[in-house]
Amino acid sequence: MKKILITGGAGFIGSHVVRLFVNKYPDYHIYNLDKLTYAGNLLNLTDVESKPNYTFIKGDIVDGDLMLKLFKEHQFDGVIHLAAESHVDRSIENPMEFVMTNVVGTVNLLNAAKAIWKDQWEGKRFYHVSTDEVYGALGHEGFFTEETAYDPHSPYSASKAGSDHFVRAYHDTYGLPTIISNCSNNYGPNQFPEKLIPLFLNNIRNNKPLPVYGKGENVRDWLYVIDHAAAIDVIFHKGPDGETYNIGGHNEWKNIDLIKVMIKVMDKKLGREPGSSEKLITYVTDRAGHDLRYAIDSSKLQNELGWKPSLQFEEGIEKTIDWYFNNEEWLDSTTSGDYQKYYDQMYGHR
Ligand code: NAD
Ligand code: TYD
Repeated sequence: MKKILITGGAGFIGSHVVRLFVNKYPDYHIYNLDKLTYAGNLLNLTDVESKPNYTFIKGDIVDGDLMLKLFKEHQFDGVIHLAAESHVDRSIENPMEFVMTNVVGTVNLLNAAKAIWKDQWEGKRFYHVSTDEVYGALGHEGFFTEETAYDPHSPYSASKAGSDHFVRAYHDTYGLPTIISNCSNNYGPNQFPEKLIPLFLNNIRNNKPLPVYGKGENVRDWLYVIDHAAAIDVIFHKGPDGETYNIGGHNEWKNIDLIKVMIKVMDKKLGREPGSSEKLITYVTDRAGHDLRYAIDSSKLQNELGWKPSLQFEEGIEKTIDWYFNNEEWLDSTTSGDYQKYYDQMYGHR
């Protein structure tokens, strides 16, 4: 039985990866290691928690001794590393937390894998999940490829870039069997309502203002989270050591246009006058260092490993909105308590 460590499995993307691996690979044992920060939510995994091939471990990747102890105890064959601080606005408020988890935490995992695998790389794999934000910002033309030079602008993207560099360095220096993917913005069920889509969905539902940064002209390339999990599965199993793959769905939206699509779909579902929720749109001070445009060229992944996105955006956004409407308990529980304090601190003054 293969033992796979998935870090950050209680978060948004991690929970979809855990579910996919637990259900698809009954001959793997999946260990989900998560600190359960504000973004970690075990409610995301109630359907897999009692499966015999699943174990949850509460732990902090910043604790290097603990990482070594866990590797010794469980002798993991593979790692899929998603644990991270992931929200740009929080990174602007508190960069050090991003350095600790994203850089130091990643190096702790690399050290533990290196110490326990001891050059016996056969059948071993260290998969690091990263973001397209490491490439910086595009103008109105062009796409990020795997060859694009790193040019991060936010403390979040700088910390992810740092972790990517360490992963490559451990491959090039010690021969660790690593692989990296850089994905565009994800959306779908279980995303913590601080990111654009679930935050605005919840605010439209509750008739609260929609804080659009700047003029809403920034462009993001959106991928349905289940398609990201499927790409991770393909890359984990088929990608050669030392490689990098970009993941994206060629699905670019200007923020303001995407918000209007959400409003259109939600007004209909809520029985409101079409477009009436547009009155909630509130233009606020732009995010510092706000990258204009992200867009991914994923042709390497599509051509070499045969992955492609399964959903068109219109279908994905409709499914996403339906999920949040059908899981209002999840939404209400994540928007209470600490999250409310955060909301007031970040947006309350506007
Ligand atoms: P998330 O914030 O929803 O989840 C992060 C998870 O990591 C949480 O469960 C949290 O409890 C856990 N965690 C945080 N610090 C930890 C620590 N010190 N020790 C152990 N666990 C810790 O993030 P997400 O959106 O699911 O992103 C997952 C990964 O994918 C991240 O590495 C992120 O950089 C990357 N990524 C995200 C996107 C996106 O659009 N969300 C796009 C591309 C890449
Ligand atoms: P976000 O979901 O934070 O993802 P990222 O910054 O990692 O791309 O933001 C997506 C886009 O939406 C980004 O251009 C910033 C913008 N945005 C707003 O206009 N208002 C908001 O309240 C948030 C959270 C984001």
